[in-house]
Amino acid sequence: MNAVVARFPIPEARSQRLSQAEATVRLKGFTRRFGANTIIDDLDLEIRAGEFVALLGRSGSGKTTLLRTLAGLDNVAGQDVLIPTSRAVVFQDARLLPWKRVWRNVALGLRGNDVRERAETALKEVGLGHRLDAWPLTLSGGEAQRTALARALVREPKLLLLDEPFAALDALTRMKMHGLVLSLWQAHRPAVMMVTHDVDEAMALADRILVLDQGRIVAEEIITAERGNRTSAVRPLRARLLGYLGVEATEGSYADIVAAPARAE
Ligand SMILES: Nc1ncnc2c1ncn2[C@@H]1O[C@H](COP(=O)(O)OP(=O)(O)OP(=O)(O)O)[C@@H](O)[C@H]1O
Ligand SMILES: [Mg+2]
Repeated sequence: MNAVVARFPIPEARSQRLSQAEATVRLKGFTRRFGANTIIDDLDLEIRAGEFVALLGRSGSGKTTLLRTLAGLDNVAGQDVLIPTSRAVVFQDARLLPWKRVWRNVALGLRGNDVRERAETALKEVGLGHRLDAWPLTLSGGEAQRTALARALVREPKLLLLDEPFAALDALTRMKMHGLVLSLWQAHRPAVMMVTHDVDEAMALADRILVLDQGRIVAEEIITAERGNRTSAVRPLRARLLGYLGVEATEGSYADIVAAPARAE
């Protein structure tokens, strides 16, 4: 089966189908400027309920700016922007309050008699049921990010926004986090927009990959191959994605691509 069913530009039939499906996010002609600099330029974007979208792009291409808009952190007055009220963000750093215990960080902003219980359930889901009363500074990087995930999920968001959430973690912890994010997504089914620099991470997790360049979406790829069974299916896609990012792909793994510089004789 063909693993990648559509490439940019989006065929007419598919874009109509998308509009008819339930959209959790919809931006039309969205533009964001800082002074004279246009960072997001007349951008159209739809994310369907439960869809897992990865956003790739070079540094400075506007990924975080777009994510901040979807998180409702920026002023969008006068623009055609639909974002759900129920949304949560996880950033590259966990942003935990060091003076509050782990469960209180997760419960931050929640109301009701059952907040500890809800925080506990979320922390158990990310495998941290035993660290409820720990102080954030005693957590490992991976545990801190899992706490941040629990804090996002405890709100049962319709839209989960992830801005390079695993970038600071070691490769092994990252792999575990990928598995965790997928299982949480499968259990709760929020729409996800995950910003990443990592083409392999995007291909492993997402249903759809968008590439942002100079404030515009310059490529869209849809992956239909089963997760966990994508290695051979996505090889041509990998080369294309790296191409969009200005990196020439070679056959083989990351270890083959990053060759040591030739030694001067
Ligand atoms: N508050 C701001 N004021 C002025 N310029 C800004 C502001 N926020 C972002 N920018 C500029 O907008 C551009 C896009 O920034 P953004 O953080 O969205 O990039 P990014 O794609 O997330 O990059 P990276 O991959 O390095 O995180 C950059 O040139 C940045 O300097
Ligand atoms: Mg960024």
